[in-house]
Amino acid sequence: MALSRLDSLYMAVVADHSKSPHHHGSLDGVEALQLNNPTCGDVISLSVKIEDDKIEDIAFSGHGCTISTASSSMMTDAVLGKTTAEALELAEIFSLMVQGEKDDAQEKLGEAELLAGVAKFPQRIKCSTLPWNALKKAIERQEALHESARQNCVL
Ligand code: FES
Repeated sequence: MALSRLDSLYMAVVADHSKSPHHHGSLDGVEALQLNNPTCGDVISLSVKIEDDKIEDIAFSGHGCTISTASSSMMTDAVLGKTTAEALELAEIFSLMVQGEKDDAQEKLGEAELLAGVAKFPQRIKCSTLPWNALKKAIERQEALHESARQNCVL
């Protein structure tokens, strides 16, 4: 079956993100969070610099397939400069989208919206959500650290 021009365009953008990922690397002074895809063992290492509840900088590295690498690149583009609440909302929208739940809000994802087609390939859902799940864990870890520091100040 021939691909439509739109499908071809989407595939080209995904391939570009995979071959030349944005925000690839690590951040000085930021402890990276590692998360693996249990179905294949691939790993993402995600560094998120959060200041005043805002994602000031973000970078990733690791081993992953085309979909996970493209999703990581698109995720970093989507959440950089956002508040942590906005980033968590985007992670939720993305998760629902790749499970086939359409939502007008998915246009907030930027180019990550192009991964909506993953819903047709259930075995790739974990590839696409790997960086978004790492983002959620990184934000949760940061919030737990802040809460712990706040409690120490009160004591
Ligand atoms: Fe491992 Fe996609 S096959 S992350």
